[in-house]
Amino acid sequence: GFHIGTAVAGGGHHETQPYPDPFTHDRPYRQVLAAEFSSVSAENQMKWEYIHPERDRYNFGMADAIVKFAQRNRQVVRGHTLLWHSQNPAWLQQGTFTPEELRKILRDHIKTVVGRYKGKIQQWDVANEIFTDTGALRTTDNIWIRELGPGIIADAFRWAHEADPRAKLFFNDYGVESVNAKSDAYLALIKELRAKRVPVHGFSAQAHLSISYGFPGDLENNLRRFAALGLETAITELDVRMDLPPDGIPTAAQLEQQADYYQRTLVACLKVRGCDSFTIWGFVDKYSWVPVFFKGQGAATVMWDDFTRKPAYYRLLSTL
Ligand code: XIL
Repeated sequence: GFHIGTAVAGGGHHETQPYPDPFTHDRPYRQVLAAEFSSVSAENQMKWEYIHPERDRYNFGMADAIVKFAQRNRQVVRGHTLLWHSQNPAWLQQGTFTPEELRKILRDHIKTVVGRYKGKIQQWDVANEIFTDTGALRTTDNIWIRELGPGIIADAFRWAHEADPRAKLFFNDYGVESVNAKSDAYLALIKELRAKRVPVHGFSAQAHLSISYGFPGDLENNLRRFAALGLETAITELDVRMDLPPDGIPTAAQLEQQADYYQRTLVACLKVRGCDSFTIWGFVDKYSWVPVFFKGQGAATVMWDDFTRKPAYYRLLSTL
């Protein structure tokens, strides 16, 4: 019942993936994807801007292909994501809608997307990154919360549950690996929602880590307090980046520290009951989002560009 997953590089995001999409075109990539993982997440292809590019048009091609690939290879799928402040299409973000219209737009989207993959998605990241690091709801940059109020979060979970009653519905965020203001905010919100019988089933930490910031040593304890509410937990987007030396080649010490971070993250998850899903955000450096988003940093995944394995890969393997 324990799943090791990866994000699937499906292309379509020009800034980070200016090459033909690896999922479709890179044979060795597909082979590793099929052989090494029992769970997959679309890196971009189920996000609004990709799957719902115009108000009256959905683009299911890549998401369908990823789900089909997973089924063929007996992998489960994590759906990502339904309510987020980022990667929304221009028609939505810049449109003018009444609250009633906007509410219907979200409801229709959730019913359509979740409904399409009903029975095929193990876990859905229903709400992604709704709190800031200080534990405040994103009331300005999250269009849904700003325009419709925080009550829309519960509605999103209810609609997703109606569309696929067996999918486990998650809150997902970065910077919530430790006990801190942000993870506290999730704990409080989830307690409140569960008391109202809102179908919330899980809490997940993305775990975009850096060896420069120190390991979140209380990860296990943090996950435990969510597990204690009867929730599932998950690691959903693990990568461990580093400052690259001028020649671009990580030192042995950096690789060792990276391996250690990967391992400690897995160990924490394995120790917590209900943490049954452990996903890395891509498995090969050449397709990782890290160098694009974090200037001067990289080498964050477990494989070199030719798919040979780094110490981190072997450390995960020996931990399982
Ligand atoms: C990233 C993707 O990896 C990139 O390809 C894309 O350009 C931006 O988004 N938190 C999330 C993920 O929930 O969806 C993000 O993925 C990384 C941070």
